[in-house]
Amino acid sequence: MGRLNAKVCIVTGGGSGIGRASALAFAREDATVIVADIRGEAAEATAQAVRDSGGVVRAMTVDVGEESDLERMIGQTVADFGRIDVLFNNALYVNRDHAMRDMDFLAFDPEIFLANLRVNVLGAVLASKLAIPHMLERKAGSIISTSSGSSMGGDITAYSYGSSKAALNWFVQSIAATYGKQGIRSNAILPGPTQTPAKLEWSTPEMDRLFLDVLNTPFIGEPEDIAAMALFLASDESRYVNGMLYPVDGGQSCTVPFISVTRKLANG
Ligand SMILES: NC(=O)c1ccc[n+]([C@@H]2O[C@H](COP(=O)([O-])OP(=O)(O)OC[C@H]3O[C@@H](n4cnc5c(N)ncnc54)[C@H](O)[C@@H]3O)[C@@H](O)[C@H]2O)c1
Repeated sequence: MGRLNAKVCIVTGGGSGIGRASALAFAREDATVIVADIRGEAAEATAQAVRDSGGVVRAMTVDVGEESDLERMIGQTVADFGRIDVLFNNALYVNRDHAMRDMDFLAFDPEIFLANLRVNVLGAVLASKLAIPHMLERKAGSIISTSSGSSMGGDITAYSYGSSKAALNWFVQSIAATYGKQGIRSNAILPGPTQTPAKLEWSTPEMDRLFLDVLNTPFIGEPEDIAAMALFLASDESRYVNGMLYPVDGGQSCTVPFISVTRKLANG
């Protein structure tokens, strides 16, 4: 019997990176996995990989920014499998042009801000709102949301992205407080730099060298490193864990911010 023992788990943004690695990890531990992604073909590719390894899986084309899509995702899951044990809110707003324009505060654009909120915050909040009644019927459920290390402090870039993740943290903890007594848990994972297709698109080898300077591990994390935490939070092993914001960031947040300066001085 696997660690998830036939739990019904929805993973949004399951077509790539952390979502894909998590869908595969959940399936390896005997979960039934619903892979939801705005790119239907990417969701199907993850689903095929799960099927190939003998898992039970369903792929769905879902834009988490559309409440009607979320209603279909939740409704179809309950119709097909009878319940929802785990909701992993992991999709993020992707728009290269918006990401570039989000780097200059004096060009701050409400349209970009609202687009990030729509997917990164509302997507998770509305999916939770729709899943919770089904979880309440069974007095059990685990909601996991992928936030970001960027949510924990100010920055000089990615204003709309960072603030959306900070808002997400508030909902993660408020849902935990609102429904914890009724058996529902809500936790967030705050990844540091992680070698997913999303990151590989914008990072350079020079940036990776600088990232390594602020990490306290000898490597930059892989999607599987984040999936390992998602698996723990999805399983009953974490039954006493609620409302937590977990950095999985190579120790990035355990030191003073000027660690790279100190390291350089210490190493001569
Ligand atoms: N990779 C990192 O370094 C890093 C660091 C911190 C936080 N994160 C967070 O991790 C999560 C996963 O990111 P990733 O790096 O694996 O990205 P990724 O691009 O590899 O995967 C994201 C997936 O989300 C899907 N998606 C985009 N918009 C969607 C929508 N509206 N509805 C449904 N699906 C949608 C994409 O098609 C893609 O398959 C995100 O929430 C991101 O903010 C990543």
